[in-house]
Amino acid sequence: MKVVRAAYAGACYGVQRALDLALKAVEDGGAAYTLGPLIHNPQVVRQLEERGVRAVDGADDVRDGDTVIIRSHGVTPEVKRMAQARNLPLVDATCPHVARAQKAAAQLAEQGRHVVVVGEAGHPEVEGLVAYAREAGAPVSVAAGPDDLPDALEGPVGVVVQTTQTSEALDAVVAALEERGVEPLVKNTVCFATRQRQEAAAALADEVDAIVVIGGRNSSNTTRLADICAAACPRTHHVETPGEIDPAWFEGCDTVGVTAGASTPEEQIDAVTSLLEGL
Ligand code: F3S
Repeated sequence: MKVVRAAYAGACYGVQRALDLALKAVEDGGAAYTLGPLIHNPQVVRQLEERGVRAVDGADDVRDGDTVIIRSHGVTPEVKRMAQARNLPLVDATCPHVARAQKAAAQLAEQGRHVVVVGEAGHPEVEGLVAYAREAGAPVSVAAGPDDLPDALEGPVGVVVQTTQTSEALDAVVAALEERGVEPLVKNTVCFATRQRQEAAAALADEVDAIVVIGGRNSSNTTRLADICAAACPRTHHVETPGEIDPAWFEGCDTVGVTAGASTPEEQIDAVTSLLEGL
């Protein structure tokens, strides 16, 4: 069975940067805290914990003097202010692409627009984008798709998008707005790494008999990769670890594809690839 890896797969620049910053924060044996898991990859989060980087629910769980690491998804301005007010040492690992989306949300709001955030309601990055727009005084709506758009949109509209969404999701929302006669100002903040991984996964899923998508089940970008692959290849399997792989999935397959989300480190991809090659 031939195993083919997607041209672009696995840990992106923003995740690698967050991991490097977190490990640097504890290199002298200290402890540091992330508000929620640093990345959406349970295996990596466990390894980080062993090195002193712990995930807590909120800033209230952090003691004075403890270092707080802001995740690649970013946080709301309020959380940043709270940490600063308590003089907690801050390591800002917000991905620069997320920071750009936060800035775009605030700018649209400052222009007096109703801000539509295309993304997953409740996702930490989306909560940050919503908060940046609200702080600038705008009404804000979150829409994963056209059905989530509110009936009434006040005034001119601006659209910003969660960095790990598909461009198709953005286009669908924009098209629905245009059908209503709204001409939104659109900031396409889907990040380059996400686009590359999605396009490479779609191309590979078209060519192979089955495809394995590796990454956290709680990872929004990995789940989206799995959806994209499943649309082209019905034998798509989303796994977090090699132990979940069932050889029966690949019966009669000549070629199996492998791809991985932006929060999946190289070792996890290698482990799955070696197992598949051994089948
Ligand atoms: Fe940043 Fe894009 Fe990765 S937003 S964290 S480079 S998926």
